[in-house]
Amino acid sequence: MEIRLENLTKVFTDKSGNQTRAVDQLTITIPSGKLVGLLGPSGCGKSTTLFMIAGLHPVTEGKIFFGEDDVTRLAPEKRGIGLVFQNYALYPHMTIRQNIMFPLENLNIKRQEAEKLVVEMAELVGIRDQLDKKPSQLSGGQQQRVAIARALVKKPRVLLLDEPLSNLDARLRLQTREEIKRIQRETGITTIFVTHDQEEAMSISDQMVVLNFGMQQQMDEPQVMYNKPDNIFVAKFLGNPPINIIEGEIKKGKIVLSDGTVLADTKIKDGKYDLGIRPEDFKVDDQGFVVDTTHIDHTGRDTMIRFMIGDKPLRALVESESVEGKKTIKLMVKAHKVHVFDKETGLVLS
Ligand SMILES: Nc1ncnc2c1ncn2[C@@H]1O[C@H](COP(=O)(O)OP(=O)(O)O)[C@@H](O)[C@H]1O
Ligand SMILES: [Mg+2]
Repeated sequence: MEIRLENLTKVFTDKSGNQTRAVDQLTITIPSGKLVGLLGPSGCGKSTTLFMIAGLHPVTEGKIFFGEDDVTRLAPEKRGIGLVFQNYALYPHMTIRQNIMFPLENLNIKRQEAEKLVVEMAELVGIRDQLDKKPSQLSGGQQQRVAIARALVKKPRVLLLDEPLSNLDARLRLQTREEIKRIQRETGITTIFVTHDQEEAMSISDQMVVLNFGMQQQMDEPQVMYNKPDNIFVAKFLGNPPINIIEGEIKKGKIVLSDGTVLADTKIKDGKYDLGIRPEDFKVDDQGFVVDTTHIDHTGRDTMIRFMIGDKPLRALVESESVEGKKTIKLMVKAHKVHVFDKETGLVLS
């Protein structure tokens, strides 16, 4: 089921009357059956957005639609959502079976039917053989799967996950991430996955929404957003190692760096700009500009070269073979790999 947010806005007002615009005029459509990553730095309004969709925060302005239903003022328990948080929030004194069954307690469901649903959910998330244990006997990753099973047992229309992997160590985070993707695909449930981790969002999302200061920056498929960021914030937020940002100029149809290095031809009009170049978009090329290879980090297949343009340190990621035994190399970058940003607005021009 599609979720539509229309001008969704949340303003918090504290006791002294100070206002925080946590979510600002958010208008997005989450396609039915897809997993959409809600991504942005800490404090950008991700949880607030999720809580409004869940009905846990009243909205200040705007509307929320589930399919054709306007749910903006509907009580949380009537929305048909499953929620999963960072800290699992399982009941420690109950068994896994009791935890998963808990949401069914006050419904008119026969015991036998409830048991069947619990087993079905446990199977879905891969913890069938853990049902009689207590939460403390399970790993963090397993506990989070229990939380997901509990969120899904009422067959919600929407699954909302708020930083569900943040409490897990690196290995479990990767594994559980893949599990969440599989569970989402198998159930086909419309899912919003909140994270501040760009790599996590890139790997798990069908589409991503990037927020900053409560405002939508861009919504796209991960790879599209990576290759074609709409503004300098998105460009900088995605990618590790991060994109190089350097001042430059377009003079007579050529991109020129601050030290006079001429990079490529362009159709963008002359002027001063911020240029973004991803480290991996530099290529070793005889026609390129010279950099010395005294500052290099071997990362296996690739080598990271650190070099200066004027007083600005840049990074280029190139194939190790192309650097071996050389004191200097020549680097080039294709015109369409140079992102040109307006210095005032930060919006992309290319
Ligand atoms: N209950 C609240 N009362 C007042 N301010 C809040 C409350 N919840 C969140 N905020 C503020 O709203 C902004 C967005 O917070 P949040 O949605 O939690 O961000 P995120 O989940 O992206 O880290 C922050 O500035 C935060 O301090
Ligand atoms: Mg949060």
